[in-house]
Amino acid sequence: MTQRRGADDAHGTEMAEAAATPAADGEEADAEAVAFVRRHAQPGRAALVPELQLYLAEAVVPLWEATERWAAGPQPPPFWAFAWPGSQVLARWVLDQPALVQHQRVLDLGAGSGLAALAALRAGARAVVANDLDPLAGTVQRLNAALNGLAVCRSPALRPPTGDAGSLTDDTGSATDDAGWLTGDADGLWIVCADLVGTMRAGLGVDVVLAGDVCYDRQQAPRITTWLRHLAAAGAYVLLADPGRTYAPRDGFELLATFEVPTLPDLESAPSRTTRLLHLHG
Ligand SMILES: C[S@@+](CC[C@H](N)C(=O)[O-])C[C@H]1O[C@@H](n2cnc3c(N)ncnc32)[C@H](O)[C@@H]1O
Repeated sequence: MTQRRGADDAHGTEMAEAAATPAADGEEADAEAVAFVRRHAQPGRAALVPELQLYLAEAVVPLWEATERWAAGPQPPPFWAFAWPGSQVLARWVLDQPALVQHQRVLDLGAGSGLAALAALRAGARAVVANDLDPLAGTVQRLNAALNGLAVCRSPALRPPTGDAGSLTDDTGSATDDAGWLTGDADGLWIVCADLVGTMRAGLGVDVVLAGDVCYDRQQAPRITTWLRHLAAAGAYVLLADPGRTYAPRDGFELLATFEVPTLPDLESAPSRTTRLLHLHG
């Protein structure tokens, strides 16, 4: 993945953005986030998934710098503005093999743009949760859903665990209030911005887990793959799509397919990434 450049030379537009930094939760902040995404990303299509539109950017660093000016503080990289090889492969796979997700409850972990989640919904999944730590990813997932005519659920019935994964932590599945958030009438597309990793290992209630390109960080990758294996052991069908990241699992999976995915020059050091689709074992 690309590295961030050094000093920033902010110009007038970006200063204006910084002045408009959202200070509070709710609709106003949401509208500002929507405007920010629309200013910095344009509707486009990922190479492997021409069926779906996404708000996409061309370069990481200028957008990352703009994000930090807008938020007036350190921010994670804007992963949400790109269709990484992982989600392209997952999306292609479920669109080509819809039986895998039809009528199923699906979690897209580390969803970024939400491409895999949207593909699962388009392929006939009954309930889909797009989950990412970054609230801006949640914003762009909503915008991307709308671009493709897909609705996002806002019903309080799900009580999505925004921001407080601690309240969900339950290795035994006994926290029934929260463990049930993907069951019952929770059909449709849900956007959850929280760290679910490690929570609800026995009671998440998903049939299929999609995880695209989540093995790039030395500390996070083992944490994520351990949790994915717990979900697999609890009965979920777990697919991990990995474009050769350093911390990807080396065993405990079945290799389902390999794709050559074109990449943006700004994102990777190669014009394409060989991306493996792994069925992770528990
Ligand atoms: C390289 S991006 C991949 C995004 C998307 N899956 C794709 O392939 O296009 C990795 C994403 O994982 C998210 N992420 C990292 N750790 C996470 C965690 N513990 N829970 C949820 N999302 C996480 C990041 O915020 C980022 O959006």
